Amino acid sequence: MADGPHTVFIEAGKVRPELFDAHIERRLSSMKGQYLDQEAYRRMLEEEDRLLYEVYELRRPEKEGELLSGISIVHPGKVGEEYFMTKGHFHEVLDTAEIYWCLSGRGVMVMETPEGEWSVKDLSPGTVLYVPPRWAHRSVNTGSGENLVTFFVYPAHAGHDYGTIESKGFRKLMVDRGAGAEVIDNPRWRG
Ligand code: F6R
Ligand code: ZN
Repeated sequence: MADGPHTVFIEAGKVRPELFDAHIERRLSSMKGQYLDQEAYRRMLEEEDRLLYEVYELRRPEKEGELLSGISIVHPGKVGEEYFMTKGHFHEVLDTAEIYWCLSGRGVMVMETPEGEWSVKDLSPGTVLYVPPRWAHRSVNTGSGENLVTFFVYPAHAGHDYGTIESKGFRKLMVDRGAGAEVIDNPRWRG
């Protein structure tokens, strides 16, 4: 963990920052039940437990006043018609926001609140996205063959609630049915 004032240089086009405390890898096997086409998921997993996304984290003490930041890289690909995506989560401390800055690639952030509002925002290099408090968020790589790379920063005491999304899913999904990326209702969403 870097102490005191410090800088990190993020080189355009490179995904691995020069300074990080943790490197998290999420593979297909960790996304059980999340993709709509479960048969496509099963077939793909049989072939290979593909690396879907990675996160490089800069750690700080998880207390109010501190900020956590890092780089998230969603690799390109699809499970059936559905683009590779992150698990997605609410923050455990629901009233905490997050900022994402898209460094490279193309994608969207799928978001929703516990009250049922939803939003899908495009991410392309230069986009700064504000995820307000209470909004669950999932990044999706809708590009053609490139990594979706974002820088994120959020309050260090926020924590993560993955369970709600794991059991309910998101209300909206991002699929390609031949005409590029489109938002569809999640038929398996459990409210
Ligand atoms: C932190 C945050 C990001 C994500 C990362 C991976 O609050 O939103 O750092 O953690 O993009 O996504 P998840 O955590 O949903 O697997
Ligand atoms: Zn978050």
